[in-house]
Amino acid sequence: MVLGGTGFVGRHVAAALHARGHAVVIGTRHPKRALKKLPPALRASLHDVELRETHFESLTTRYVWKPLLGDVDVVVNAVGILRERGAETYERVHNMAPAALALACERDGVRLVHVSALGLRPRAYSLFLRSKAAAERAIADTSADYSIVRPSLLEGEGGYAAVWLRRLARWPVHCIPMAARGRFAALDVGDLAEAIVVLCETRGRADWREVELGGSVRRTLAEHLDAIRARPDDHPALRLPVPNLVALAAASLCDLLHLTPYGVPVLELLSRDNLPKANRLRALLGRTPTPVGVNSAASVAAPIGALAR
Ligand SMILES: NC(=O)c1ccc[n+]([C@@H]2O[C@H](COP(=O)([O-])OP(=O)(O)OC[C@H]3O[C@@H](n4cnc5c(N)ncnc54)[C@H](OP(=O)(O)O)[C@@H]3O)[C@@H](O)[C@H]2O)c1
Repeated sequence: MVLGGTGFVGRHVAAALHARGHAVVIGTRHPKRALKKLPPALRASLHDVELRETHFESLTTRYVWKPLLGDVDVVVNAVGILRERGAETYERVHNMAPAALALACERDGVRLVHVSALGLRPRAYSLFLRSKAAAERAIADTSADYSIVRPSLLEGEGGYAAVWLRRLARWPVHCIPMAARGRFAALDVGDLAEAIVVLCETRGRADWREVELGGSVRRTLAEHLDAIRARPDDHPALRLPVPNLVALAAASLCDLLHLTPYGVPVLELLSRDNLPKANRLRALLGRTPTPVGVNSAASVAAPIGALAR
């Protein structure tokens, strides 16, 4: 069962599981229109999957998960929100529901693959990051058979942030917050899906409990924009450093107006390195990861082995 199986990550995971011959159930808030939002190729490959209604804001005790998990062997949680809306709060969607899900998985012997993120800290400024960190702790406190997957920034068709960054990359001027000095190791969403399939098929391995994943190249935001912009005939964009106070004011305004994806959590993430401590991507894929962007002069080439332990 892929929760959030119509989202950017979830749809690729669902399609990859389906292609491997697994029976897939997609968890979504809107079963009637869930498949309509997928690109045609994915819609075609998932046309026969079962859709099950799931609203995380009300799935906050292990008992309410029971009827949803009855026939499920493995559950992948790829649900996430960028903004709170009514009862859909960070606390309920990112923390309470996954915590209850982990207890239900523990009780029913269901394997759980929880998609989280790099750069979470219990004392982060933003509630978005704190709620996701709290879920990780709650899952780790159970004796469920779980893997917590922490991917770096994802690149690929249809990702909200990925599309937004590509659009930004084409602009002649790149406005870069001065605080955005942190590096990340963007990876292809198809690679992530493939890695998650391997984790779904791997049971009871303590060494796969925490899985950090990234691409082969470490870049700052400015370098990433250059790399996804660059084609042989592209002129480099002009970099305009944005003072921290202005960047923070703009992020707070985006939060206030519910504009996505920029906001205080993103600014906070960009200000620190978000690199996998031990990059397990190549081990899971059994091949070299798909390159993301071009290796611009500004990017710091780091073979995957160098990121690994
Ligand atoms: N995108 C990235 O670059 C990236 C990088 C690292 C980690 N991640 C993590 O990966 C996870 C998935 O991210 P994504 O980019 O795939 O996000 P996404 O495209 O926005 O998909 C999230 C899915 O969650 C479902 N959802 C939202 N609110 C829900 C609720 N209240 N109850 C049940 N389902 C709900 C939605 O499905 P329905 O609309 O069908 O209900 C939506 O399709 C998140 O935890 C995110 O932090 C993403």
